[in-house]
Amino acid sequence: MRIAVIGANGQLGSDIIRVFGNKVISLTHDDIEVTDLESCKILEEIKPDIVINCAAFVKVDDCEINPEMAFKVNAVGAYNVSRVCNEINAVNIYISTDYVFDGAKGEPYIEDDIPNPINIYGLSKLAGEIATKNYSLKHYIIRVASLYGVRGARGKGGNFVETIIERAKEGERLKVVDDIVMSSTYTKDVAVALKEFIEIMPEYGVYHMVNDGYCSWFEFAIEILNLTKMEVEIKPVKSDELGRLARRPKFSALKNEKIEKLGIRMRCWKEALVDILLRKVTYEFFRSAKTDGDEQSF
Ligand SMILES: NC(=O)c1ccc[n+]([C@@H]2O[C@H](COP(=O)([O-])OP(=O)(O)OC[C@H]3O[C@@H](n4cnc5c(N)ncnc54)[C@H](OP(=O)(O)O)[C@@H]3O)[C@@H](O)[C@H]2O)c1
Repeated sequence: MRIAVIGANGQLGSDIIRVFGNKVISLTHDDIEVTDLESCKILEEIKPDIVINCAAFVKVDDCEINPEMAFKVNAVGAYNVSRVCNEINAVNIYISTDYVFDGAKGEPYIEDDIPNPINIYGLSKLAGEIATKNYSLKHYIIRVASLYGVRGARGKGGNFVETIIERAKEGERLKVVDDIVMSSTYTKDVAVALKEFIEIMPEYGVYHMVNDGYCSWFEFAIEILNLTKMEVEIKPVKSDELGRLARRPKFSALKNEKIEKLGIRMRCWKEALVDILLRKVTYEFFRSAKTDGDEQSF
């Protein structure tokens, strides 16, 4: 089976490449521009059976300043990829987000809950979901959330785990929001679950794929500091105090109701966090020892 990954050098894309191994075809932004239909026709030459579309404009606050770009990449990009996938009869997997929800439910969202985005990022991703559903017959929409991987998000210039560790190392006093609850998720675990999922090839539709459980960003930061044994002053703050441009859903935890019925289980967020911290330590060790330990090996 030929699988092509768009956004292959991104945070999630790079873990998909690692986990799936050398049978996948990596497509970086240099190879494909999803906002350009002609550029997407590279897929017609590659002729994959499955396309995993991880390309996105992920900077949530920047999406408010530049909604045109958000819709161009997240919605028009998804539409272009969908059209070409349909043309070549490929299964189209669009990676989406918990931010399609407004956070008012107060308990984890399941796949059948009605989206109601409250920021441009979520709105543009929901448009991408609809384009994927309506323009490619064979489609999956996989919603993930609050991602972290060994390689930080290219679009965001890092991830929360890296930021907390770096700031703590510098002895910075940390302020972290305690009124936003989410499903923090390790990209490696999404990649592993996605591999199992593709082997099953269930009914087309929407699926949630996040680590089990949920926490506030503050609780997540505390766990990172505890596990890394870093002592630093940390204070809970309210999201309104940060003056960020985009509104965030207050409770955007997801429940993997549909993949669990398929027998795919994703571990608890705390276990996933231990795993990435160990992986980071190993990576740093090889890097400082100046061996040829490439990040790809971890
Ligand atoms: N990060 C999160 O916390 C989070 C949460 C929920 C959902 N998601 C979703 O998960 C997916 C992966 O996110 P990520 O964290 O891995 O982000 P990332 O590291 O920024 O990866 C995005 C990838 O897409 C590529 N890309 C961007 N614009 C493109 C375009 N116009 N044409 C082709 N490629 C383009 C980027 O390449 P360049 O960098 O070279 O442009 C990069 O390789 C996205 O769909 C995102 O919406 C992420």
